[in-house]
Amino acid sequence: MSPLPPARLLAALTARFQREFGGARPRLFFAPGRINLVGAHLDYNGGDVLPMAVDRGIYAAARLRDDGRLRLCSLDQELVVDVDAAAIGSRTRPEWGWAGYPLGVWHGFQQRTGIARGVDITFAGDLPMASGLSSSAAIEVVTAIALDALHGTRLDRQQLALVAHRAETGFVGVRCGIMDQFASALGRAGQVLLLRCAGPRWEHVPFDPEACEVLVMDTRKPRHLAKSGFNERVAQCANAHELLRAHVRDLPHLASYTLDELEQSRDAMDEVLFRRARHVVTEMARTALAVAALRRHDYATLGAQLDASHRSTAVDFAVSCDELDVITEAARGCDGVFGARLTGAGFGGCAIALVRSGASQAVAERAGAVFAERFGTAPSFDLLRVGNGPGEVA
Ligand code: GLA
Repeated sequence: MSPLPPARLLAALTARFQREFGGARPRLFFAPGRINLVGAHLDYNGGDVLPMAVDRGIYAAARLRDDGRLRLCSLDQELVVDVDAAAIGSRTRPEWGWAGYPLGVWHGFQQRTGIARGVDITFAGDLPMASGLSSSAAIEVVTAIALDALHGTRLDRQQLALVAHRAETGFVGVRCGIMDQFASALGRAGQVLLLRCAGPRWEHVPFDPEACEVLVMDTRKPRHLAKSGFNERVAQCANAHELLRAHVRDLPHLASYTLDELEQSRDAMDEVLFRRARHVVTEMARTALAVAALRRHDYATLGAQLDASHRSTAVDFAVSCDELDVITEAARGCDGVFGARLTGAGFGGCAIALVRSGASQAVAERAGAVFAERFGTAPSFDLLRVGNGPGEVA
């Protein structure tokens, strides 16, 4: 992918906004996408995750209206939604497509603040859509940031992240955890976010771009199963948690149990639930090791946690696929690669490799060739940097 540089993207976005809606210049906003270094499928289990906001995301051009209409469009898609705010309801509709995310945020913002004024918004992105880099969280967070700024409501970043999260769970109906919206809303240049989802509590941990970089490897395999498969994993984890509460002890989150406690409940659980729970409790330990390694700049140990995380998400959590397995394995075989794993929910889309700075080009060539030979299609590669958090673009 070679996205437009931000200045050109913003010019195109403003032009599209004015063509669609006319009138005065809109204000411009940005929210980043994210990758998650380690802590796969832990957020909705009350665990610890280690995401970082990236230097790509979603831009929004927005202007308040004097009536109660909501009009949404995007730079590169056909769909234009024009709906009366009074008719929004509490759930998205199929004909709204991607616009369900910003409409859900508008609905949540209105519930939180009582403000029901309409708005015109045009969106554009420089992040691959629907491939595991959280374009949906970025569109939610940029909408929340825009509404907050246009109305001067001064909600803090956590409140905006929660409005964004509720749009996805309540309005759109994906039972995701809080990681993506928090990673986007709380992003900081040069830092990764250690997010303890049980609180939630968080701290920022420096990430040294001179020492290593994150290569995103997009298999371009569509994530058809992502929504149903994701919700199924959430349900399986909830079932495993119920059994542990009944048979071992009553803890508030699945991620809080130890491997020993899980072993004690083995007879009470079928094999599938046991494996799902084993991924969760072992992934907690990997996140702890990864954070400690990151703090002491030990990228070999950090990378080993990514490799182990990939194996566990593939074998115990069953959310990988041949394409993700092959591309991560190919990357691991290259010089300068500390570790590799799928990112996001899995089921296709992107993987990441943690690479010694400067070595990514060679890794992309080698892993791309192995992948192309096996599947007959070319993956795409992107070197992403730890990005800034969201905000208004001057
Ligand atoms: C998706 C969800 C997140 C998280 C990840 C898996 O990205 O939106 O909440 O559960 O999958 O770690």
